[in-house]
Amino acid sequence: MQFSTRTTPPGRMRADCALVPVLAGKELTAGGKEIDAVHGGRLAKMIRSGDLPAKAGSTLLVQLDGHLPRALLVSMGEPRECAPRAFTDAVRGGLQAAGQLAADEAISLLHEAPVAGRDTDWKLRAQVLAGREIAYRFETLKTKRETRPVRPKRVVLPVPSGGGSGAAVAQAIAIANGVDMARDLGNLPANHCTPTYLADTARKMARELGLKAEVLDVRQMQALKMGALLSVARGSEQPPKLIVLRYQGAGAKQPPIALVGKGITFDTGGISLKPAAEMDEMKFDMCGAASVLGAMRTVAELKLRLNLVVVVPTTENMPGGRATKPGDVVASMSGQTVEILNTDAEGRLILCDALTYVQRFKPSTVVDVATLTGACVIALGHHHSGLFSPSDALATELQEAGRDIGDSCWRMPLDEEYQDQLKSPFADMANIGGRPAGSVTAACFLSRFAKGYDWAHLDIAGTAWKSGASKGATGRPVPLLANFLLARARG
Ligand code: BES
Ligand code: MN
Ligand code: ZN
Repeated sequence: MQFSTRTTPPGRMRADCALVPVLAGKELTAGGKEIDAVHGGRLAKMIRSGDLPAKAGSTLLVQLDGHLPRALLVSMGEPRECAPRAFTDAVRGGLQAAGQLAADEAISLLHEAPVAGRDTDWKLRAQVLAGREIAYRFETLKTKRETRPVRPKRVVLPVPSGGGSGAAVAQAIAIANGVDMARDLGNLPANHCTPTYLADTARKMARELGLKAEVLDVRQMQALKMGALLSVARGSEQPPKLIVLRYQGAGAKQPPIALVGKGITFDTGGISLKPAAEMDEMKFDMCGAASVLGAMRTVAELKLRLNLVVVVPTTENMPGGRATKPGDVVASMSGQTVEILNTDAEGRLILCDALTYVQRFKPSTVVDVATLTGACVIALGHHHSGLFSPSDALATELQEAGRDIGDSCWRMPLDEEYQDQLKSPFADMANIGGRPAGSVTAACFLSRFAKGYDWAHLDIAGTAWKSGASKGATGRPVPLLANFLLARARG
């Protein structure tokens, strides 16, 4: 689905279909009135019929003629100024209904509807993001197409001349490209998406967008004494990788922001083997990695004025004759030792060495993203990602970035008291803290390595993918990260 802006008045635009917002069940916007006037009041008449349901996203088709053969009335719900959520519902409903028609090109006037607390740029962006979400397909592994081709193919957004609306749409397209990349990587099964594949994908993106790429292998990890990361890789035949991508969009003196993503391409649990049911979903255990790579794509496509480093520790977590055993003690790159009581708590082990490794880039801020704990899904379900940070300012920044773009996170505690649960009689700490507050003690574990910079941790176990009939990667939290970085680049 391709989006573009145009400054032609809506009444004169040529298209297969127009998406026309209806406010509070009765009112047309300026552009809607223009179209209505050109077509002899047929839209207003249809609205008066009362056939358009009030619910946001309900639609009613009106046959027209000439340069605009049809209009789709789209209910924006009550009240007249709708909530951001209702707007997104309306966009989805409108585009999905338009997709049932033989319409290749649509114009959408939906951004003429007033939305509480949001400006036109936000509404343009929301349309692009919702449209691209609907249009996403993952069919590379099917030998024949199953779903119908994407419709409408093109969506034109009429905007007043002289405005900067083109920039908002370009931003949203770059964010959607990042989201699609994260979804593709997440959906790709673990026999295809290995650590080596992730590294090759990162290198390819680096060539395409002019980034610096470096991929560390086992020997380099050994030289750096990354004993925690290496302990997870021991059971696997696939070689682990540490991927480093660097983007420079600001002066070399400006400290970079670093994003660290958990890249477990398959999590069997290791010797602490997971139960069989739904284990296929553990191919999604690299969605943190996918999201930071996706965010890098967005930033580089937009040439944002900031410096960004993306670090991805990636490996499988497998049982095997050489695999790490419960009770084993390993030394992390930081020098701190860890008693591995449960080999299924492997995410924190690969992340802790990556958090130590990023120190060399002297970042101002580090955000790690990980499908880290089932406990986070129990705490927050599938709506908010879990947010952990000792910094109130950084936490607020991330919360606002997420809320604004409909990819929210909820702050969880990180108090000292929880640290006690990680005590070990045999090492500096254990890698698990027992059942209570499992997502908090996981974050506490990471906090012991996140030293020398402002740090936040996003637990995306509940938000990175969907289970059931619509199983698949969501691309979250790419929109949150991109929005956060856009705000940082604005300064
Ligand atoms: N990748 C999982 C977390 C996970 C589980 C994400 C289910 C989404 C759905 C992680 O590596 C893991 O296995 N965590 C354990 C930690 C426990 C052993 C302390 C968990 O959550 O059960
Ligand atoms: Mn695990
Ligand atoms: Zn895992």
